[in-house]
Amino acid sequence: MRQAGRYLPEYRELRKKAPSFLNFCLSPELASEATLQPMNRFDLDAAIIFADILLIPFSLGQKIAFKENIGPVLIDIKTEDLSFSPKKLEPVYETIRLSKKNLEKSKALFGFAGGPWSVACYMIQGNGKDGFRKAVSLQRERPEELSALMEKVFSASVFYLKKQIASGVDVLQIFESHAGLLKDDEAFDRWIVEPTRKIVEAIRADFPCFPIVGFPRGANIEKKQRYFRTTGVTALSLDQQTILSQAKEKLAFLGVLQGNLDPALLIKGGKDMRDAAEKIVNCFGRRHIFNLGHGVLPQTPPENVRELINLVHEMDVER
Ligand code: CP3
Repeated sequence: MRQAGRYLPEYRELRKKAPSFLNFCLSPELASEATLQPMNRFDLDAAIIFADILLIPFSLGQKIAFKENIGPVLIDIKTEDLSFSPKKLEPVYETIRLSKKNLEKSKALFGFAGGPWSVACYMIQGNGKDGFRKAVSLQRERPEELSALMEKVFSASVFYLKKQIASGVDVLQIFESHAGLLKDDEAFDRWIVEPTRKIVEAIRADFPCFPIVGFPRGANIEKKQRYFRTTGVTALSLDQQTILSQAKEKLAFLGVLQGNLDPALLIKGGKDMRDAAEKIVNCFGRRHIFNLGHGVLPQTPPENVRELINLVHEMDVER
């Protein structure tokens, strides 16, 4: 999950050095420093490369800006006018090389991309508001149009992810942050499961067995199970809505799980946070990647992050 960001004072300082968020993501020196900031402060086991899922629309020629207090804004563009410029993503590979060089050898480096559905949601809606109503109706009313758009996102994403591996990431995560919008089983399989299965297949054709974490956020337990079974991802990341006993019964036998502490509890801290963390560790034991159910929120006190990480490591040693 996102572990760099505005909750860290050193991030807010670093962020001032770039004229825009996009420029920040595409400046390897700054982006690799942002990648390593949480690693330098806390005893984390893995870093995630500092970039954004919306670099794919940017690489396809869609104009994009990140506005303060608003979020991403994308300018409407026709699918036939989208054309992939691989060069636009090259700074990210340099960020990976720099981060890898400066990361302790015992720590893992995550690369990532958005799932094609979640990326398409932003491309169609033009922002992150309104529950992506346009994308939800497009898949129902004009599926062939969505299919053409997602095909372009898919091809660029596969290219991008393979380059991330070649540049040194140890594991990939696919963020399908808006999977929960597709309630209908058929729609979920068509727009989430099948594109992810194809991404995993394309990556493994060049990099057999490469570890990939899938994050179908907001999908119900049956959908998560189908996603895990069918896509071939190595591990499944769980949102905070997931009920632990259901995950244990219906998902754990399929592979490694990751997640799912509620980021709101990390803001709150104290006993509630500690109890929830213990519940997760006691439920899954060592075959689990301890993580949040979604990214760290800007209001999070950094001291709570430290306490959580130390607690999880202590519980691990006791096993
Ligand atoms: O450790 C890390 O922070 C890794 C880097 C990372 C970012 N975005 C940086 C970022 C990662 C892994 C992402 C993924 C991402 N981006 C997702 C998938 C994960 C999720 O959270 O669901 C999504 C949906 C996006 C799209 C996006 N980027 C939105 C909606 C926003 C605005 C929301 C906000 O918090 O402002 C962004 C901006 C963004 N990407 C920020 C960061 C640190 C905050 C902007 C800033 O620092 O000014």
